[in-house]
Amino acid sequence: MTTILVLYYSRTGNTSKMAQAVADGARTVQGVNVELNYYVAVETLGNYDAILIGVPTYHHDMTADIKRMFEEAAEKHIMLKGKTGAAFGSYGWSGEAPKLVLEIMKNRFEMNVAEPPFLAKYTPDQTALNKCKDLGKHVAEKLMHPT
Ligand SMILES: Cc1cc2nc3c(=O)[nH]c(=O)nc-3n(C[C@H](O)[C@H](O)[C@H](O)COP(=O)(O)O)c2cc1C
Repeated sequence: MTTILVLYYSRTGNTSKMAQAVADGARTVQGVNVELNYYVAVETLGNYDAILIGVPTYHHDMTADIKRMFEEAAEKHIMLKGKTGAAFGSYGWSGEAPKLVLEIMKNRFEMNVAEPPFLAKYTPDQTALNKCKDLGKHVAEKLMHPT
């Protein structure tokens, strides 16, 4: 079965709301299994067809646990080549983190990434949440019906 992971970190809940909406959007596509989580063991990353990461920007960077996960995946030679990747996140003024995540997915793990990343300023409003749903749905549809 096609399986999508929506993995997120959120300190004050904004990226968490976005992650929920991304997962909701992906779940509208029949035949897709969607897991929404804030932690997975790196050894399981290979089980997913797509990995969508929600990460807020703190201090012009991605958060430490997402960075640590990538470092551990690289150390353990987890193969993610050819898998679909996407990134999104809440930010305040600069919003680098989702772009950094996509760069790592693309350059280090050779994943096929959906660009650009989707950003919402502070608390996502309904328009932003709808765009998150669209992102999840779009990734799920592409996996189910590759063109
Ligand atoms: C200590 C601190 C540092 C931050 N640094 C940045 C930053 O460098 N760039 C930016 O765009 N936003 C920055 N922000 C704003 C957060 O990205 C913003 O509050 C976001 O909504 C947090 O998302 P979360 O609720 O998912 O944790 C910072 C916020 C705090 C509290």
